Amino acid sequence: MSILHQKFLHGGDYNPDQWLDRPDILEEDLRQMKRAGVNVVSLGIFSWAVLEPEEGKYDFSFLEERIEALYNNDIYTILATPSGARPMWMAYRYPEVLRVRADGVKEQMGGRHNHCYTSPVYRKKIWELDRRLAEKFAGHPGVIAWHISNEFGGACWCEKCQEAFREFLKEKYGSLEALNREWWTSFWSHRYDCWEHVQAPAPHGENATHGLNLDWKRFCSRQTADFCAWEKKALEAGGSVLPVTSNLMGFYDGLNYTDFRDVLDLVSWDNYPEWHSGEKSDAALAVETACAADYMRCIHGDRAPFLLMESTPSVTNWQRISRLKRPGMHMLSSLQALAHGADSVQYFQWRKGRGGSEKFHGAVLDHDATTDTRVFRDVAQVGRRLEGLEEICGSMVRPKAVILFDQENRWALEDSFGPRVSGIHYMETIQAHYGALWRLGIPADVIDSGSSLEEYRLVIAPMLYLLKGDIAERLSHFVEQGGTLIGTYQTGLVNENDLCFEGRVPHDMTAVFGLHREEIDSLWDGQSNHTCWNGKEYKLTELCERVYLSTASALAVYQEDFYAGEPVLTVNSYGRGRAYYMAARAGMDFLQDFYGKTAPQAGVLPCLKGVFPEGVTVTMRTKGDREYLFVQNWNPGDAVVIPEEELTDFETGEPVEGQMWLAGYEVRILVRGNCG
Ligand code: GLA
Ligand code: ZN
Repeated sequence: MSILHQKFLHGGDYNPDQWLDRPDILEEDLRQMKRAGVNVVSLGIFSWAVLEPEEGKYDFSFLEERIEALYNNDIYTILATPSGARPMWMAYRYPEVLRVRADGVKEQMGGRHNHCYTSPVYRKKIWELDRRLAEKFAGHPGVIAWHISNEFGGACWCEKCQEAFREFLKEKYGSLEALNREWWTSFWSHRYDCWEHVQAPAPHGENATHGLNLDWKRFCSRQTADFCAWEKKALEAGGSVLPVTSNLMGFYDGLNYTDFRDVLDLVSWDNYPEWHSGEKSDAALAVETACAADYMRCIHGDRAPFLLMESTPSVTNWQRISRLKRPGMHMLSSLQALAHGADSVQYFQWRKGRGGSEKFHGAVLDHDATTDTRVFRDVAQVGRRLEGLEEICGSMVRPKAVILFDQENRWALEDSFGPRVSGIHYMETIQAHYGALWRLGIPADVIDSGSSLEEYRLVIAPMLYLLKGDIAERLSHFVEQGGTLIGTYQTGLVNENDLCFEGRVPHDMTAVFGLHREEIDSLWDGQSNHTCWNGKEYKLTELCERVYLSTASALAVYQEDFYAGEPVLTVNSYGRGRAYYMAARAGMDFLQDFYGKTAPQAGVLPCLKGVFPEGVTVTMRTKGDREYLFVQNWNPGDAVVIPEEELTDFETGEPVEGQMWLAGYEVRILVRGNCG
């Protein structure tokens, strides 16, 4: 049986192909991996040039030897398909595999992650290689999953991609007339007379047709997912039934990861936060990584445990400043992954290479290759700790609150040209609402607007500007059935093609919110309005909507400007539930107070009641009747938590009652439930 979801995986990217002339080092790697508590490696990610040194000539011997040697040492392999970087011969023989940039310049050989995903040659070459890899290794007991390519991203403007884009549009719109209508091309006389004139958006060409911009991004994302599916099919053609994953990148803007939902059997992601920057606190940054981790978990419809495929064991080299992780941070940031439902802690990279642009990127082993280093000890400590947590592996995260984050909505909002060209701040808004819950110790899922709302009690849909499919209907139904919905300014303005709705907005949701919007005031940086709610004053910035209430009641009003006295926070009873509307952007002080009051009313409680200092949060995983609580102190200094109930420390078995002390960056795991 595979160890996937049975034991926490610990390991990372391993590049023995950089050391094939050093058998001594390859042998030493095995011994040192054991010492670090490594039980998994990702192998062959950039190995195409070794695996197919000449066109059609395959040599898998290094993989064969490494997989076997690792397996004999109880180290499992997540085997990569090498499509993240191509061999030199291919670029020169088949220039069509090279991307064309938006400005029309064709790229030369170099870099990585820069192939045309449409190119029949690239697809054929990777098919031939993947199929053979599967034939050879899919049945090996040491191989537990496929790592398809590496960090998919980017786009290609070559003629083949443009043609595929037109096919995508023909399929979607059926006729040029429909496309012209949905893209509103009568504007500025940009009407298309024939399909051949439809070109991808470009800086020196068309870029003001918002429907085009959005569809191009959709196309690029789907074409990438289609390429990933193509690789999966090649592996299956080689007889593989192993799960496939691909390392995603959190809130990376270039792809709509929902497009990968049906392709990936297992979600994994890479996480590289800039700890200790001083620009924001580690706690504030932890909110962002927590939010991204929850989004990643929800990419898969069943929200099953996922993998942290990459993180750095020490520093990166590509961040603006490469700060060392302070003592405790490596453990805390590693266990944060577990706290959000990951079944692994994996790194880039096992051993530092001697050349190339990542020669100074952190690794478990530095150039001196000794184990007597702080980094190695930190890593080994994580390895040991994970071993003791085996029972938690495979457990689920099942929050009652959810944030709607939709990548297509993000593309459209950020391209909307008004009301704030200098920063509409959608991501920040998502993270702010999420962050308020995080501070309250209320776990949340992060899902796109096409996902099911069934398991939730509280749905938070900030700035849901673009409405796809039946989302308005489903949100209304959710409230009607007793759920609590939170909506904000900039909701329900355009259809899925970024075409403004006719009639009152939020479109199809004026009934559930019991109001409609008349206009929105955009504030300059430094300008503000204020409101008072429950006797406390709060600042409002950036976006202030003027709304008219039909059935909703005002809970708070604007205090200043010509719209002073008009509603800014409203609630509407609808069916058995309630819909709140925040007409203006408020700060964390308001969001925290607001959710502190409304979440419990909605039936959503913190996973541990008690007194928590700023910067401390709790998340929860469950298995059967056991609940595992990850209490995390993101402050550099000590923190005292006072839980309201008696729990058991999962690792020591000691009861925890009264005060619970956490050192700076400490994480403790408590258990609730049948301890038998
Ligand atoms: C990404 C890539 C890795 C490596 C790391 C460095 O995550 O997938 O190959 O380049 O970044 O941080
Ligand atoms: Zn292309």
